[in-house]
Amino acid sequence: MSTSGWDAWLTERAELRCARGTVRTDPVLRSGGLPLLDLASNDYLGLACDPRVVAAAHEALDRYGASASASRLVTGTLPVHHDLEAALCALTGQPSALVFSTGYAANLGALTALSGQGAQILLDAHAHASLHDAARMSRMPNDTFAHNDIAALEVALRERRGYRVVVGVESIYSVLGDHAPLADLVEVCARHGAMLVVDEAHGIGVAGGGRGLLFELGLVGAPDVVVTATLSKSLGSQGGAVLGAEPIREHLLNTARPFIFDTGLAPASAGAARAAAEIVSADASLAASVRSNAATISEVCGIRASAGAVQSIPMSTPDAAVAACLDLRARGVLVGCFRPPSVPDGVSRLRVTARADLSPVEVAEAAHLVAEVSRHYRGAAA
Ligand SMILES: Cc1ncc(COP(=O)(O)O)c(C=O)c1O
Repeated sequence: MSTSGWDAWLTERAELRCARGTVRTDPVLRSGGLPLLDLASNDYLGLACDPRVVAAAHEALDRYGASASASRLVTGTLPVHHDLEAALCALTGQPSALVFSTGYAANLGALTALSGQGAQILLDAHAHASLHDAARMSRMPNDTFAHNDIAALEVALRERRGYRVVVGVESIYSVLGDHAPLADLVEVCARHGAMLVVDEAHGIGVAGGGRGLLFELGLVGAPDVVVTATLSKSLGSQGGAVLGAEPIREHLLNTARPFIFDTGLAPASAGAARAAAEIVSADASLAASVRSNAATISEVCGIRASAGAVQSIPMSTPDAAVAACLDLRARGVLVGCFRPPSVPDGVSRLRVTARADLSPVEVAEAAHLVAEVSRHYRGAAA
C-alpha cells in the first residue's frame, strides 16, 4: 500500500470510530491543578502512594537500579523478585508464584504454557481481553461459554472429552464487577479433568480480607486450579503473577514465552508490590473499607451491589456515557467510561471504583453526584 493509501485507510478507520462514538483519548488527569476525586483508577486500597510502598520502591531502585536489564532466565532475576513471590504466596495461600512483567503477560503465559498440542481452551464470555488474546496466541482450538453459566460449561466440557481442556475465568469481573461461581467451576472442572485458570486481578486486595475470592470461599489448594494476578490494581504497583502448585511454576518458568522472552519486572515495581502484599496480608481492614465504600456507591446509585470494588452503572448510549463522565470530571470526580468494544455485553457504562483510602463522607458525597449526573444523561439520551 502506498503512503497515501495508508493515510486514506487511517482516515477511514478514524471516521468509523467517530460514527460509532468510540473514539478514545489518553488525557493527563493527575498533573496537579484542581484535585480530582478518583473513582476511576484500580488503586482500590490507595497503596500506590502509600509511603511504605513508595519507600520500598525507592529502596529496590537504589539497590538494583532502574531495570532488571535481562530476562529472568538470563541475569534478570533479583532477590526482590523472589521476595515478592514469597509475599504473594503468603498473601494468597498458594504454594508457589512466578512473577511476570504485567498481568497481561501472566495471562498470556499461563494459558499458552498450559495448553499446546492436544489442548482446547474454554473461556467465560466476559473474561478479560488478555485471556482471549492468550487463547488466540495458543493457536489451539478455543471457544467461549455463556457468562457464569455452569450448565453451558458442562456441555462444552462433555463435547471435548478426550482433550486436555483449560478453562479461563475471572474471580470478580473487571467491567461489570460481578463474581464467578467459583465453587461450582472448581467442581465441574475437577469432574471433567479440566485445568481451571482463575484471574484474581480484581479479587486480590478486595475479597477474602484481601487474600482473594478463592481464599474467601475456602478453595485454596483445590487441585488443578491456577491463579493469575496483576500487581497493578490493589497492590498499587505494576507487574503480574501466576500462582499455584510448584510443578506449575516449574513448567511456566521453562515454557511460558511471555516469561522467557521478556525483561524481568523492574526492581522498583517488584519492591513496591512486595511491600503492598505484606501490608494487605497484615491488615484485613483495607479490604473491609473498600467493600463498605463499594456498598455505599451501589446503594446511592440504585444499582445491584457487586462483589468487588467495581460498580457498574449502565448508560443508554456511548455518547451519554461520555457526556456523564466529562460532566463529572468538570465537577471534580473521575469515573471510568466504558463503551463497546471494551464492554462484554455491548452496554456502555460508567465504571465507578471504590477505594479504601476515602472517608465514608467523601464516598457518599461523590456517589450522590454520580447518581444525579448519570440519571440526567440517561434521561437526556432516552
Ligand atoms: C481481569 C484482568 N486481568 C488482567 C489484566 C491485565 O493486568 P495488567 O494491567 O497488570 O497487565 C487486567 C487489567 O486491566 C484485568 O482487569
